[in-house]
Amino acid sequence: MKKRLLGNNLEVSAIGMGCMGFSHGYGAIPPEEESIRLIHRAFELGCTFFDTAEVYGPYVNEELTGKAVAPFRKEIVLATKFSPFLIAGQNWPESKLSRAGIRRALEESLRRLGTDYVDLYYQHRVPADCAVEDVAGWMGELIDEGLIRGWGMSQPTESAVRRAHAVTPLTAIQSEYSMMERMFEKDVIPACEELGIGFVPFSPLASGFLSGKYNKNTHYEGDDVRRVITRFNKENVEANQPLLDLLHTYAAAKNATPAQISLAWMLHKKDFIVPIPGMRKEERIVENLGAAKVRLTEEEFSSLERALAAIPIHGNRTDEDIARLGSIRKNE
Ligand SMILES: NC(=O)c1ccc[n+]([C@@H]2O[C@H](COP(=O)([O-])OP(=O)(O)OC[C@H]3O[C@@H](n4cnc5c(N)ncnc54)[C@H](OP(=O)(O)O)[C@@H]3O)[C@@H](O)[C@H]2O)c1
Repeated sequence: MKKRLLGNNLEVSAIGMGCMGFSHGYGAIPPEEESIRLIHRAFELGCTFFDTAEVYGPYVNEELTGKAVAPFRKEIVLATKFSPFLIAGQNWPESKLSRAGIRRALEESLRRLGTDYVDLYYQHRVPADCAVEDVAGWMGELIDEGLIRGWGMSQPTESAVRRAHAVTPLTAIQSEYSMMERMFEKDVIPACEELGIGFVPFSPLASGFLSGKYNKNTHYEGDDVRRVITRFNKENVEANQPLLDLLHTYAAAKNATPAQISLAWMLHKKDFIVPIPGMRKEERIVENLGAAKVRLTEEEFSSLERALAAIPIHGNRTDEDIARLGSIRKNE
């Protein structure tokens, strides 16, 4: 697979693999040996960028991902994240957003991942009152010590990106981006382009919606975020059908699939964009990673952009909606 550069030092496959779903967020999970087999399959197909976080599971997703990538650890870019808040099981005296808190979180991630360095270490959210300059300084110390190779933030504002980058250059921003969520096109993505920072879209298939394989009657269970995010309300699924119709038209014309057109569209936009779809079936891994071979011409891209601009999007995916899932599940 073609490679892309995040920041000035991390070379990754043009499409990475989001490993969250192997433990967290999309309902029933595969057995561990199957998850490991699928991660190995992605690597065989040329994927060299794997994403996890301490909060996925929590903790167990890092253990699983670390175990799976161990045979080829040095050949890949391994990304993980620390939550800005203490999470279940972290009864620490230090606050998370402190030099000691971040260092302790990293040390524990390294242990779970079974590695002695993280290639890309993200702050998982950036609260409005976060002293981003301080965090950037502490991240710079971890880079200097060789414990991390680069750092990033998830869902920051443009202002946070600029302030942090001025202290310790950012390697990548990981934020939600897809044909259904384009809010960062106006500020954060242009700032990444200007400053030489990679942009890693999470939920690039809008939690699978853009694959066209789900409908208003699809049932979701357990911790599947599609139970609560409004993009998957029955009415919104119906209202968003024109977007799927458009994708199907392009897919047929390009001998591709709707998921591949969605990914090819963002790859075409900027060469520093590296999506990390989540996928737990071999055929989906082949399909999604295969999107790197689907090339849109300038004309196809422009007409797709024009068509997208005319289609209103209904519903979204917010942290607040996802937080409701906890109380729903407590009452089950
Ligand atoms: N920074 C953050 O706050 C944040 C938030 C969310 C996610 N992430 C990271 O980003 C990664 C990707 O996010 P995501 O998992 O929401 O991405 P996504 O790829 O938009 O959605 C994943 C869902 O779509 C389904 N899917 C993917 N490809 C498909 C295909 N070709 N056909 C049919 N269904 C398909 C998956 O199904 P199956 O898995 O069942 O096959 C899964 O249910 C995560 O794994 C995680 O590492 C980060």
